[in-house]
Amino acid sequence: GSIKVFAPATVANVVCGFDVLGFAVNAPGDEVVMRITGKPGVTISKITGDNGKLPLSADKNTVSASVQHYLKHINRTDIGVDIELHKKMPIGSGLGSSSASTVAGLFAINSLLDNYLTPMELVPFAMKGEELACGYGHADNVAPAILGGFVLIRSYEPLDIIKLPVPEGLYCAIVFPDVDVPTRDARQMIRSKVLLKDAVVQWGNVAGLVSGLFMNDIDLIGRSMKDVLVEPTRSILIPDFYKMREMAMEMGAVSFGISGSGPSVFAFTRDEQTAATITQKIQQHLTGLNIASYTYVSAV
Ligand code: HSE
Repeated sequence: GSIKVFAPATVANVVCGFDVLGFAVNAPGDEVVMRITGKPGVTISKITGDNGKLPLSADKNTVSASVQHYLKHINRTDIGVDIELHKKMPIGSGLGSSSASTVAGLFAINSLLDNYLTPMELVPFAMKGEELACGYGHADNVAPAILGGFVLIRSYEPLDIIKLPVPEGLYCAIVFPDVDVPTRDARQMIRSKVLLKDAVVQWGNVAGLVSGLFMNDIDLIGRSMKDVLVEPTRSILIPDFYKMREMAMEMGAVSFGISGSGPSVFAFTRDEQTAATITQKIQQHLTGLNIASYTYVSAV
């Protein structure tokens, strides 16, 4: 048999929840076409949309590597599969690009094997892919890509993942300024120690955001999306970050921040039109700085 699977882009951290919060958007995303072959082993026959950036070697590509890992775990290395990966979103954008591909691959193999594992059980395999991609198996892109909506990683050891409610009438404006910010580097630059007074602010905000999701309180969500730990450092890598925030907030955004490790930024809005206007104006601003950008508007 063969199967075609789409997996969505995701916004990790959601500003205040470094490594513990993330949500999925409707678009963009990646597509995997997988077919069973007669010969044991995992191969990649084709990758499109990556400008030749991704490895075709089965051990190095996060999609095939995580599928291999999955087959090994369930003792089915007798199976042979071939993968076509169609990248339909930018790489290194901070929108969970590697995660979307990996998740599409795992979902494909799991479906071909009659959903041998539950979606939740796929998460650790996808985390392996992230480890290969950026050096650390963070789950805040892969878990929402697999489960949809908003997700909390309450704990990594042991893994404890909680699906959160999605408030009604929340839209997301995303702008990807096409500058290079590898996640690996963007992780290394963060301070590993925090001050207690900063931690107090941060966990107040994380709890506020989660409460806002449960209460469907968009104001509370907005005022909780502040980050005193990571954003001050990472924003340096993003062109005109504070100017873009000012613009978005003036146009009526509920919140604004870095998507994952950047350079993409995102804003929450209460309606689709405001999200569209924000992406347009910020794109114009970046064009003025000679920076190409890509924009997306999605319901959350
Ligand atoms: N939580 C991760 C980070 C997400 O901020 O490095 C990367 O997309």
